[in-house]
Amino acid sequence: MLTANEIRSQFLDFFKSKGHVIVASAPVVVKNDPTLLFTNSGMNQFKDYFLGNKQAPDPRVADTQKCLRVSGKHNDLEEVGVDTYHHTMFEMLGNWSFGDYFKKEAIEWSWELLTEVYKIPKDRLYVTVFEGDANENLPKDEEAYNEWKKYIAEDRILMGNKKDNFWEMGDTGPCGPCSEIHVDCRSEEERNQEDGAKLVNADHPQVIEIWNNVFMQFNRVWTDKAKFDKWSEQNAGAEKSERAKLIIACTELVPLPARHVDTGMGLERLVRVLQGKQSNYDTDLFTGTIAEIEKITGKKYGYTDSKQDVAFRVLADHIRAIGFTIADGQLPSNTGAGYVIRRILRRAARYYYSYLDYKQPLLVQLMPVLAEQFKGVFDELRKQLDLVCKVVKEEEEAFLRTLDKGLKKIDEIITDTRKQNTAVINGKAAFELYDTYGFPIDLTRLIGHENNLEVDESAFKAEMKQQKERSRAATTLDTEDWVVLKEGATKFVGYDSIEAKANVLKYRKVKAKGKESYQLVLDTTPFYAESGGQVGDTGELIFPNETIQIIDTKKENDLIIHFSEVLPKDPSGAVLAKIDTIKRKSTEKHHSATHLLHAALREVLGTHVAQKGSLVNEEHLRFDFSHFAKVTEEEVAKIEALVNAKIRENAPVVIKEMPKEEAIAMGAMALFGEKYADCVRVVVMDPSYSIELCGGTHVGYTGEIGMLKIKHESAVAAGVRRIEAVSGKAAEDYINEHLHTLHSANAILKNPKDLLKAIEKLQEEKAQLEKRVESLEARQLVAIRNEVLTKDEIINQVTFVGDIVEVGSADALKKLCFDVKHHLNDHVVVLGANIDGKPFIAVGVADSIVAAKGLDAGKIIKEHVAPLIKGGGGGQKTLATAGGQDVSGLKAVIEKVKGLL
Ligand code: ALA
Repeated sequence: MLTANEIRSQFLDFFKSKGHVIVASAPVVVKNDPTLLFTNSGMNQFKDYFLGNKQAPDPRVADTQKCLRVSGKHNDLEEVGVDTYHHTMFEMLGNWSFGDYFKKEAIEWSWELLTEVYKIPKDRLYVTVFEGDANENLPKDEEAYNEWKKYIAEDRILMGNKKDNFWEMGDTGPCGPCSEIHVDCRSEEERNQEDGAKLVNADHPQVIEIWNNVFMQFNRVWTDKAKFDKWSEQNAGAEKSERAKLIIACTELVPLPARHVDTGMGLERLVRVLQGKQSNYDTDLFTGTIAEIEKITGKKYGYTDSKQDVAFRVLADHIRAIGFTIADGQLPSNTGAGYVIRRILRRAARYYYSYLDYKQPLLVQLMPVLAEQFKGVFDELRKQLDLVCKVVKEEEEAFLRTLDKGLKKIDEIITDTRKQNTAVINGKAAFELYDTYGFPIDLTRLIGHENNLEVDESAFKAEMKQQKERSRAATTLDTEDWVVLKEGATKFVGYDSIEAKANVLKYRKVKAKGKESYQLVLDTTPFYAESGGQVGDTGELIFPNETIQIIDTKKENDLIIHFSEVLPKDPSGAVLAKIDTIKRKSTEKHHSATHLLHAALREVLGTHVAQKGSLVNEEHLRFDFSHFAKVTEEEVAKIEALVNAKIRENAPVVIKEMPKEEAIAMGAMALFGEKYADCVRVVVMDPSYSIELCGGTHVGYTGEIGMLKIKHESAVAAGVRRIEAVSGKAAEDYINEHLHTLHSANAILKNPKDLLKAIEKLQEEKAQLEKRVESLEARQLVAIRNEVLTKDEIINQVTFVGDIVEVGSADALKKLCFDVKHHLNDHVVVLGANIDGKPFIAVGVADSIVAAKGLDAGKIIKEHVAPLIKGGGGGQKTLATAGGQDVSGLKAVIEKVKGLL
């Protein structure tokens, strides 16, 4: 039997022999295409060649491409694990012709490979051909039909409609008619009973498509995108077919400059066919992980539809998507591609938690097996195994904590729902799960589904909306209408100037939390409005007869708003707007230092480091970034040293505006999920070190930063770390503060030669002294105990001991009482002490006395002792203690307890 690795190699070797260049798989995570989160087919990386935007260096290529179909147009997630032939991540074997060969060769070679190299029996194969589409004026694919006729009987060539036989990458983009090859894997007996041709494209688990040959001839382009967007907004939940109809109405097919071939064969399915298995999961692509899951969980995989077996398949599948996306640089997160990964990981965790009864991180344990399996094929996982494992483990741990609580809650909700005789989980409950327990709504849906319950989606949405409104209301300001003095827009001059002559365009009164203040808009301003992590400027507006303070500057859309506690008496005249340059300069130092820090983090920790948030003001900088582990002390030191070296280099800070493409081509660091205009501002500090897209203000030369000192490193979320640091004068102050502490310590210790040694010595001496005190105290307690025992008296057949003693602590008093008890039979003991001016009491009562007389030490303390010393206490029936405020009551306590006898 051929192994999967051999089958993959045979494919590539075959196309190499037909003049193809073998290329590497593109990363599975797509970084720069807003229409796509993940690579969803082999052709993605060649899109520009098809469209004619770029010339392909080689006209014939072949590869195996990591693909993910878990979002957008192609999404199979819900099927995965439930059936035996859909996957999150799968390998697509493909061959391409960029304007080179076309249908004749593509069809000939696919037939040759399947029947002569892989030796699939010809009578098990069917092919489909595009039947044409009147709506879009597309003819039947006669050419493909005629080519197929050369190899296969006509009753095995089936005509297919646009849904099955016209392949498109997304809503728009390259597309064309396609011809699929299907294999009938049923037994001879079944095949005799029913004609396989009827089962093609009918979701039969044993009659499956393995290869798609797409003949790229068109580019679908928007003709009326606005119409489509509007429709989508109003028809969010519309059927796929409705959506497809509208796309046709809003687009047109433009013939491509050349004709191309794009093929895709699912490796997992091919291997299953060639290894003669019933399910993809029985092939050696999955059996390794399944065996490992069996080993870890002690459960057996059983090839059924049971939840347990689905769980095995879900895990064996999802581990691949999780491992390879993280290896390709995508950390789990709350948005975009990161959120999809998080959801896949959580789906897997939920399955092992619920159906394999495994409550600890499991995925992380499978990762090494997977990495080893793909050795030499996709080495990126093996090379970054540590990183991937850390990320996965942390994600799993965090989610398992949530699951535990959420699952208990959802059980209650299901019971409640049933009690109310409804099949609808109320939206409020679903929202509470989401809001309080961090339980993702799709998980609630899934569990509901398994219990034949639906979530009341509209009520859930309404709750969600209400919450958003509540939080908005909590922060909204009560603003009056603008008083407009002059029409016009604001010109921002703050990149180059610290002051500007200006006029007030408009102002308004604002009330927040009962306090009134004012907002002013100028026609020209040097004030930087808070954005990109940099705080807004403060400063003053100098009018001819008065000066008012600007306490903050913020943006509202594109409006720059100056905040003031007072309104100028006459805002209509000319004004000089002047920023607080000391604050601005310190802020700039921290901002430029942040760029240097970002670059240093990537250099020291790795290029997976991506900015997740930042705050820059005059006092410090705070930088959040994706990273899987604590940044060690050595790493912090390295990062700091690197930044400081860059500061000392005194590199010029060059700021340019340029088209976004140019900036990205230069290697500028853009933030994920951030929207940039076509023309961007690029900040460069040593072109080989730091290039960032940034709208903030910066120092002129890195030397102005002075120095960087990292103060703290901490965690803010799973996979996200935070660094707080200071630069410039703030760094100097920080260091001086620490030096001052150090000098004071030196002075207190009388300037020892070696301060650290002196402190260590002090600690050692202290420990020794403590030991000595302890042993002295123990000896002293024995002496006191012996003396106390001489004072016993018998009252009503009870041995009573009452005394005021001298001990150093409440603990010692308790010990003493215990010891005295130990030496007496039927006893009541009461000992008091004045410790540093405070009264303490210990009362002991023998078991026998508790039983016979009902005397209880705890009660005695509470009812009789505590009030006399103005205090409180408690304990057991046989030993209890109290402390108080009034030492003068000590004697009375002894008498009182004695009196009880
Ligand atoms: N691009 C084609 C597909 O993904 C080959 O099916």
